[in-house]
Amino acid sequence: MFPITRLRRLRAQKIRKMVRETDLSVNDLIAPLFVDENITETMPISSMPGIQRETPKSIVDEAKALVDLEIPAIVLFGIPAQKNEMGSHAWGDDDVIQNAVRDIKNEVGSDMVIITDLCLCEYTTHGHCGMVDYKTGEVLNDPTLPLLAQTALSHVNAGADIVAPSGMMDGMIKAIREALDQNSFFNTPIMSYAAKYSSSFYGPFREAADSGYQFGDRSTYQMDPANSNEALREVEQDVLEGADIVMVKPALPYLDIIYRVKHEFGMPTAAYNVSGEYSMIKGAVEQGWLNESAIMESLISIKRAGADMILTYFAKEVARDLNDST
Ligand code: PBG
Repeated sequence: MFPITRLRRLRAQKIRKMVRETDLSVNDLIAPLFVDENITETMPISSMPGIQRETPKSIVDEAKALVDLEIPAIVLFGIPAQKNEMGSHAWGDDDVIQNAVRDIKNEVGSDMVIITDLCLCEYTTHGHCGMVDYKTGEVLNDPTLPLLAQTALSHVNAGADIVAPSGMMDGMIKAIREALDQNSFFNTPIMSYAAKYSSSFYGPFREAADSGYQFGDRSTYQMDPANSNEALREVEQDVLEGADIVMVKPALPYLDIIYRVKHEFGMPTAAYNVSGEYSMIKGAVEQGWLNESAIMESLISIKRAGADMILTYFAKEVARDLNDST
């Protein structure tokens, strides 16, 4: 008890480092990248200052720059030249992601883990994450599963190290695991967007990836922000179906979910610090309303909650800072 106990004693500059409970390392970072088949010059994303769409050429240089910063992994999103009702350019051998994966792999070899986001919303004309019954507007679960399995296989055939299904279809992990195993890709891990909420914080991403939807919203397949127990059921299902890494998304408004998921399952747990989280902090820093240190503070909070790795648009700038400080 005070005055014998004084918690301030350990807060002196030199000492506080020794008692720090959580650290953020470059190894924790996964950088999302957008590659657009339609452009020949990089294209800034206005709602995400500092982030841009890469061309099929520049994506390779960007990946190399991240390797030089010792960022261990990227997650790739593709914007195809053509969209259709089924999203068939998600799985062609000569489509945007498959080409990007091959090119990056050729250039950076085994120095980087290439994760591919696995979803149909960038590839469908209606912008939903699965097949749609146009009469009812329903996003169909079971008919979407073989399409996701086929897409996963095409990514891995092109050289993807990990696939990350983000469409929130029931049974998607099982369908993908079976397809990979049938093709002897037993050792390719699945990072599941297991507890993915129907969130307003994805707003800027939809500009970034051109994946806005034409009707309805994603609330029939993504989770209700009010629910927490349901997140555990989602994660449990995915673990049973063979997920190797489970993700909670978004991150900052869902730190309680990250905490519960990590403690309940002890699984390698990823958190996605999504586009809206990036833009609100980045925007405020640019305005001078927040100090830049808010970036590190929020990433540390995500780790403290229990995340082992963070998908974040801050990866590049934070890696620079972390490398400079060591
Ligand atoms: C695709 C997908 C989305 C994000 C990642 N994968 C958008 C969505 O579900 O609408 C969001 C990422 C971000 O906001 O940074 N299903």
